[in-house]
Amino acid sequence: MNILVIGAGGREHALAWKLAQSPKVQMVYVAPGNAGTATDIRLKNIPITDLVALRTWALENKIDLTVVGPEGPLALGIVDDFRAHGLRIFGPTQAAAQLESSKAFSKAFMQRHGIPTAVFETFSDAQAAHAYVDAKGAPIVVKADGLAAGKGVVVAMTLKEAHDAVDFMLLDNTLGVVHNGGEARVVIEEFLQGEEASFIVMCNGKNAIPLATSQDHKRLLTGDKGPNTGGMGAYSPAPVVTPEIHARAMREVISPTLKGMAKDGIEFTGFLYAGLMIDAKGQLKTLEFNCRMGDPETQPIMARLKTDLVDVLWAATQALDDTTFADLELQWDRRTALGVVLAAHGYPESPRKGDRITGNTASNEDVFVFHAGTALHDGLLQTSGGRVVCVTALAATVKAAQLHAYEAIKGIHFEGMQFRSDIGHRALKG
Ligand code: AMP
Ligand code: GLY
Repeated sequence: MNILVIGAGGREHALAWKLAQSPKVQMVYVAPGNAGTATDIRLKNIPITDLVALRTWALENKIDLTVVGPEGPLALGIVDDFRAHGLRIFGPTQAAAQLESSKAFSKAFMQRHGIPTAVFETFSDAQAAHAYVDAKGAPIVVKADGLAAGKGVVVAMTLKEAHDAVDFMLLDNTLGVVHNGGEARVVIEEFLQGEEASFIVMCNGKNAIPLATSQDHKRLLTGDKGPNTGGMGAYSPAPVVTPEIHARAMREVISPTLKGMAKDGIEFTGFLYAGLMIDAKGQLKTLEFNCRMGDPETQPIMARLKTDLVDVLWAATQALDDTTFADLELQWDRRTALGVVLAAHGYPESPRKGDRITGNTASNEDVFVFHAGTALHDGLLQTSGGRVVCVTALAATVKAAQLHAYEAIKGIHFEGMQFRSDIGHRALKG
């Protein structure tokens, strides 16, 4: 089989790396990929990002299966387009991708179908939004409706921060949010406390198969300080997701979401990522939905997956009367995988590109260096994006995985390298 992975990040490197291990695969193409996917002999980069050009290329090159990494192409309707041209692709349609691309859509959806989430209201009028903030008080959370590259959420600890967020989201759009339906909107919601976990499942429209649990670290700095980022590190499994919480997440969040989408006439296919907030009593609320795998959660999750991912994706893209997917049970390495992101100077605001990367970026049996913002210039490895690599180690315990990942990091160098020194800390407490 020839497989196409769309995207350029660490998530896509990890997906392509896993897919290439299948004996069924002839070649895994990554569009556009990065220096890590360029230098792996089992992978080949295709320098195309335009969706129509990608579809034409996939048809010409007889691609048997396509997997989409990031939300952008999904929100633009790549799945609808590929399917309309007879191509097999795993991901949600444009309508289903609204679960991520529109906070207003996903919040209204959760409310309509009784899926636990923070109390909220949606506004397009700034004055009404300000009045709501004043009535509710701080802390409060303001979210832009529309894709904002992970920057559209302000957890406001003071009223001033909340009012400022309303203004820059509704009036100035300094974030460059892609508005849905041409109109700026914000969701303002109750501030929730607890521990977050990433709960990711694979869906074929009817059934959901859970992937291993994981936890991300969203803040830039050690000790959960500094600005929010796309994610500075992740590990799997996440002990906060006990068997009871796992069962609740499937019963209270995932299952009603699949049923609700089908009822609304928008069957959900693809990876569905529920960001959960778990409180001290074990109650859960859905913070957000993403219609794709997480980055960097994918890196530790793929490091642990033992089942052939090609088989899983093939089953997930079969007609619904085929029960192979519903009957699948994924096999996982029992060890913990822990990934630490090395980010570029200036990340997340303005990551610097072009810093020379030296040292040992090769993977070995239990430590995998998944590339993200890397590029080759005259054969030399350079930074080319905010998150540069994710060093992911597999070991018997969280502590050992952490030690191995940080040991491997000592061998990698670039100017301005930023990383957290406490990835996995929540799994080590107590
Ligand atoms: P989201 O993109 O909606 O997941 O928000 C990004 C991050 O903001 C989440 O991972 C949380 O850390 C935080 N966040 C979002 N919504 C809330 C909330 N209602 N209460 C507390 N923190 C939140
Ligand atoms: N790591 C969080 C995300 O992928 O949205």
